[in-house]
Parts: sequence; C-alpha cells; structure tokens
Amino acid sequence: MKALILAGGKGTRLKPITNTIAKQLLPVANKPILFYVMDQIAEAGIKDIGIVISPETGANIQEAVRDGSQWACEVTYILQDQPLGLAHAVVTAREFLGDSPFLMFLGDNLIQGGVGDFVKHFDIQSPEALILLKEVLDPRLFGVAELNERHEVVHLVEKPKEPKTNLALVGIYLFTPRIHEAIAGIKPSWRGELEITDAIQGLLDAGREVRSHILSGWWLDTGKKDDLLEANRVVLDDLLQRNICGYCDGDSQLLGRVNVCNGSRIENSVIRGPVSIGRNCSIRNSFIGPFTSVGTGTTVEDSWVQNSVILEHSVISRIDRLEDSLIGKGVHLRKSDDRFKSIKLFVGCDSTLEL
Ligand code: TTP
Repeated sequence: MKALILAGGKGTRLKPITNTIAKQLLPVANKPILFYVMDQIAEAGIKDIGIVISPETGANIQEAVRDGSQWACEVTYILQDQPLGLAHAVVTAREFLGDSPFLMFLGDNLIQGGVGDFVKHFDIQSPEALILLKEVLDPRLFGVAELNERHEVVHLVEKPKEPKTNLALVGIYLFTPRIHEAIAGIKPSWRGELEITDAIQGLLDAGREVRSHILSGWWLDTGKKDDLLEANRVVLDDLLQRNICGYCDGDSQLLGRVNVCNGSRIENSVIRGPVSIGRNCSIRNSFIGPFTSVGTGTTVEDSWVQNSVILEHSVISRIDRLEDSLIGKGVHLRKSDDRFKSIKLFVGCDSTLEL
C-alpha cells in the first residue's frame, strides 16, 4: 500500500496568506496541517508516500517535509504543472503509484482518530474504492454520496443544488489500480478539472464495488480563513495538553490547558487556555484568550487576543481586542489611534498595519 498526498493546488480562497506559504503548511495548534496528515499515514503503517506539489509552493513543502525520515517514511515528490483537478493529480503520480493500491489524502484535510481502521477495512473487504463520508449541515458545498438501503454507494454528485443526502465526501480515499482506468474514461468538468468524483462514479457505472465508511469524529477542511480558525479551535480543544517550558513571571496567570514552548517569556499577562504559545515568544501586559495559537518568535504587548492564529515573527502591539483573526508571518500590527477597539483581521505575511 502506498499513500498519495495532494499538496499542490492554488489556495485561492486563502489568499493573500497563500501568496507566500503553501496552504498545507499553515499551522493548526502551532503544527503544519500537512504534518498531521504525515502522522496519520505513518501511524497506519504506510511507509511509501508520494506528495503532489505545485511549481509555486513545492519548494516550501520539500523544505518542511524533507526526505520523510522524521516519520520513518520514504517521500517522493511529484510536480503537477497546473492544478487541473484531483484526478489529474493521480494521473501525474501514475509512475509513482505503479500497480499498487493507495490511500489518497488531501493535504489540507484533517480527521479525528486517524486512518488506520479505514485502511484495515479496505484490506479485509477489498473493494475497488473505499470512500470516507461525513454528515454535514450544508451538503450543497461538497461532493455528495447517495447510498441504497444496504448502505452501498450508488451515486456521487459534485456540489448538488438539491442534495439527496447530507453525506459529504471527505478528502480521504482508498483505491485499487482500477481507478486509473476510470480516470482515463472521464472528461474535464465545467470548471475545467478532472474530478475524482467523476472517476469514482465511473467505477460505479462499470459495476465495480465502491464501499463507504461514515466518519463519526470531526473532519476539518481548511480551505478558507474561518475553516482554519475552526480547525485550530477543534484541535486545541481536543489534543492540547498543559505544558509550560518557557518563563512565566509572578504577575502572570496561566489558566487551564496552556502550552508555552522553550525560550518564551510571559510577563504581567493572563493566558486562558486552550492556548498554544510557540518558541521564543514574548507576551507582555496582555490577555491571550481561548483558542489562540501564537507562532515562534512572536511578540504580543499591551494587547487582548482571542480565537486567533498568529504566525511566526509577528508583533502585535496596543490592540484592545483582536479576535477571530488570521495573521501571517512577520506582520507588524500596532495601534496609534484610539478609535479602533475591536478588530477582526486576515493579514498576509510581511505586512505592516498601523491603526
Ligand atoms: P482544493 O482546496 O479543492 O483546491 P485549491 O488548493 O486549489 O484551493 P482553492 O479552491 O482555494 O484555490 O484542493 C484540495 C487539496 O488538493 C489541496 O491540498 C490542494 C490539492 N490539489 C492538488 O494537489 N492538485 C490539484 O489539481 C487540486 C485541484 C488540488
């Protein structure tokens, strides 16, 4: 069994931050999303991993994951010249995949509990494809599966106007090499992409067995700013443990599940967990509220921050109330006019905002 991680794409919905950082490397609870994906694939016992990258952000991804030895895996990088769809990414990876069955994992998706059971079911039941589904509130935004009374998949529709079920396709799939034949039989969709849902529908039309598994835990698709904040909230809530490695002075309070990494200093501040503070940060005269992650080397002074993700080496100064915000790397945010009280921001990297 091999794994194929899709880490190319355009990341349009997360611009401007994706102008300088690959979407899959954006941090959730101070760890790149792609590293959770690597963890889950390695935990499922898969050692041979192909990562599809784009010309724009491929170097970024290679620098972060390197040869995969951190996960005791072997990584092969596959360049996709243009983001022509999930099934096009599989075509691009054809030589790497050979005739092996494979787990395909979208590099911006996170699920609770890993993929080990899912891989075991596939090995035991040996269908041509096994898809993961999740009940969602608004299925019109997703690929949607229709099942028969025996819970077998009968039909898939991409973003239906009138969905027949609330079962969305999660970005994690298992395939035998038959999927390559099915992809060879599809044409680009109205948006010009080779859709993996069309290829799976092709398997169904050819009478091949496609099984499904309905996910009971959380599924996070980090395609937009609010999705990323939600992922940060859920992961901090679920996985963060209290651990204080940095320095905290006697005038500060660290309440609940707070993680402060090496080299960070907390002075005259209140941190109310769950909060993750990376390495070498300085927090002075501030309040950091629940569901916030602060990246390596960032300074927060005379400010109030809650439910936000702040990337590395930024400075937040004299901000009365910063919430629901995503702040890029190397951002300088300071207030010099008292009219600005509460702000919600989405700021790309290396910007300076004087309010
Ligand atoms: P999407 O979120 O569907 O696409 P995108 O990353 O281009 O984002 P946007 O719609 O905001 O422009 O992609 C899901 C995952 O699959 C993501 O990790 C990128 C990856 N991908 C590829 O590797 N190749 C592709 O051709 C496409 C479409 C996506």
